[in-house]
Amino acid sequence: MPTRVIIGAQWGDEGKGKIVDLLSDSADVVVRYQGGANAGHTLKFDGNTHVLHLIPSGIFHDNTTCVIGNGVVIDPEALMEEMKMVQDLGVNLKDRLLISETAHIILPFHKKLDSEKESHSADKAIGTTGRGIGPAYMHKTARLGLRMIDLCYPDQLAEKLKPIAEYSNCVLKHLYKAPEVNPDEIVEQLVAYGKELKPYITNTVEYLNQQRISETKNLLLEGAQGVMLDLDHGTYPYVTSSSPTTGGASTGSGLPAASFDQITGITKAYCTRVGNGPFPTELHDETGDELRRAGNEFGATTGRPRRCGWIDLVALRHAVHVTGINELAITKLDVLDQFNPVKLCTSYRIDGEETNVFPLDLNKLESVEPVFTEMEGWDQSTRDLKSEDDIPQPLLQFLEFIEEYLGVPIVLLSTGPDREETLQRSKTSV
Ligand code: IMP
Repeated sequence: MPTRVIIGAQWGDEGKGKIVDLLSDSADVVVRYQGGANAGHTLKFDGNTHVLHLIPSGIFHDNTTCVIGNGVVIDPEALMEEMKMVQDLGVNLKDRLLISETAHIILPFHKKLDSEKESHSADKAIGTTGRGIGPAYMHKTARLGLRMIDLCYPDQLAEKLKPIAEYSNCVLKHLYKAPEVNPDEIVEQLVAYGKELKPYITNTVEYLNQQRISETKNLLLEGAQGVMLDLDHGTYPYVTSSSPTTGGASTGSGLPAASFDQITGITKAYCTRVGNGPFPTELHDETGDELRRAGNEFGATTGRPRRCGWIDLVALRHAVHVTGINELAITKLDVLDQFNPVKLCTSYRIDGEETNVFPLDLNKLESVEPVFTEMEGWDQSTRDLKSEDDIPQPLLQFLEFIEEYLGVPIVLLSTGPDREETLQRSKTSV
């Protein structure tokens, strides 16, 4: 049975939560593979809105087992709050939520280091979510980190925390002149978290591969953030600290990349970015404000207003290249209903030369002038598109233009926040 990976193809906030929730109907297992509580996946159904930060967006479908994979960094406090929120809504988590024993833990040190680094960076700040993501991954690669399995050995926690505490408090005290964090209090908290979370902590790599090998199970992998925030392939250093790409899906779950059949890129019909860093198609005018208003573009995790601009096909081409995206879902199409004409960025002008190659050199990226193609808007509501025949001609042309440019079929259209406001298309190739 197919394994499908959901990848944010832009700067995050593409509406992955809604798509994962929708596709979970036919999934047996849903896996989050990277990031942490920096993500905010919004789901709307039955007139209610739910925002998930760590638990996979398939949790509201009884048929699915949800896995928090080894590539995720977990803030146990945030996770337990979220588990309670979901349980209060009547969801049974027992045997339905599995937490990787090798996922790393976000500690109070990490959140403190994150906020101190940001406030000491002045105009070079990344604009992080403040959730401790960067420092937690930093300690993972430095081989200092604590992992979820460590919560199962409470007697060893104090000893294991020592090197992180020494490093973190030294940086807090001497570099940032900030108060130190008391490691004894953290150990106490971790012991309490361990008692609650132990029943969920397991070897998810073995579990996932057994599901894959059984060949009767549908697996769905859920990425957080987006390709342009990838540590290697994004707009470094203005990126997150994980890999929201296909490679990240494999390392962050323990499933072989060769087992991925469908790689579904999610893109908005326009473009947004939250936080700092290059954003070639950003609009600083009334049209940008209008996109923000129409799309309600405010962060699900931090509430920050998102920067808005026209869809960027040069950046999407790069995302397709580095991930192997072989089908696209396009979200928030209804937001463009009121715009005529609509624009798509089809090349960049850099030092007077036109190119369709996304530059990874920050100096070049910051000097990009976007070149747009204008298309006729569709001047009608798309909220109740029910079949392919309902798609207005100008919208069809807009979709076909994107498909041709990227060489990838658009298989799913989302025209509103609700599960129902979605059109799955029959096409599988351009
Ligand atoms: P961090 O992941 O909190 O370290 O933030 C690094 C960058 O990624 C910042 O620009 C954040 O705004 C951005 N970012 C992190 N998570 C998300 C997300 O879920 N959606 C959009 N941007 C995000």
